[in-house]
Amino acid sequence: MARAEGDRWDLASSVGSTATMVAAARAVASREPDPLIDDPYAAPLVRAVGIDFFTKVVDGTLTFADSDDSGAARLMTDVMAVRTRFFDDFFLDAAAAGVRQAVILASGLDSRAYRLPWPDGACVFEIDQPQVLEFKAAALADIGATPSAQHRAVAVDLRDDWPAALRAHGFDETVPTAWSAEGLLVYLPPDAQDRLFDHVTALSAPGSRLATEYHPDAGASIGERARALSAQWSDHGFDVDVADLFYPGERTPPADYLSGQGWQVSTRTRPEVFAGYGRTFGTGDALAPLRDSLALTAVKS
Ligand SMILES: C[S@@+](CC[C@H](N)C(=O)[O-])C[C@H]1O[C@@H](n2cnc3c(N)ncnc32)[C@H](O)[C@@H]1O
Repeated sequence: MARAEGDRWDLASSVGSTATMVAAARAVASREPDPLIDDPYAAPLVRAVGIDFFTKVVDGTLTFADSDDSGAARLMTDVMAVRTRFFDDFFLDAAAAGVRQAVILASGLDSRAYRLPWPDGACVFEIDQPQVLEFKAAALADIGATPSAQHRAVAVDLRDDWPAALRAHGFDETVPTAWSAEGLLVYLPPDAQDRLFDHVTALSAPGSRLATEYHPDAGASIGERARALSAQWSDHGFDVDVADLFYPGERTPPADYLSGQGWQVSTRTRPEVFAGYGRTFGTGDALAPLRDSLALTAVKS
């Protein structure tokens, strides 16, 4: 179903199910030989949501690639391993540099507030829709997980006035912040993406940092890939067409937008990020849309 203003979801429907999808990939990536990541909460969270296809993937009775021979589905686990590690390292580097406030925009089933070794005094804010955050908190409490930092869940839609909600939860705009927008931008309308960065910029004290990733063609090619994968996964009963959840339209490239707002920006292509972790990104045509993705980090001067 296409997007609508003010649409809502839980972790088993619409945009929320994409959080379950990527958590399933983290669960698989965490149990590979020589893993890049260790997310012990991904599998129990995916099982708690209960989307049959993803539960089977984390239980090992199905794989993402079972109905795909292009290589793109198989690569999903590697892409998520590298992406997760990139954002993990971003937060750990920021903490090592003395940043004590972190905001995870669109946190989904991200468990960094529970699994990263945050320094004393760190405070991690997570923003996502209410049903997403409530479900995750309850599911993690059920398995006895406790946050490894001060943890504040801010239930608000990122198309609405989220800075007010963030402030109301104790966000301090006078100290530097580490922000992540992981797996988010294509799910926002293009103007909401610009507004998101406007808000982040306005809330960022000097020395703040930001990490995100995006597709330079605004997700058109990645949308085709997502549609093909969704069609294959529907054979296994997962009937959300992920490409329908993307907002189409021209977008300002985040690197340009942020540079214009006083951020020192650097980007790396996905093969470069892979290489930084000693991994090789494949060369097949089916992987081209995934290859073009850019990982961005920025520092507010
Ligand atoms: C692909 S998932 C990524 C989740 C998480 N960042 C990760 O990488 O595991 C997309 C997430 O964006 C959230 N999201 C998308 N649009 C949103 C909006 N307008 N307001 C709040 N959350 C949103 C969804 O609820 C979902 O959790």
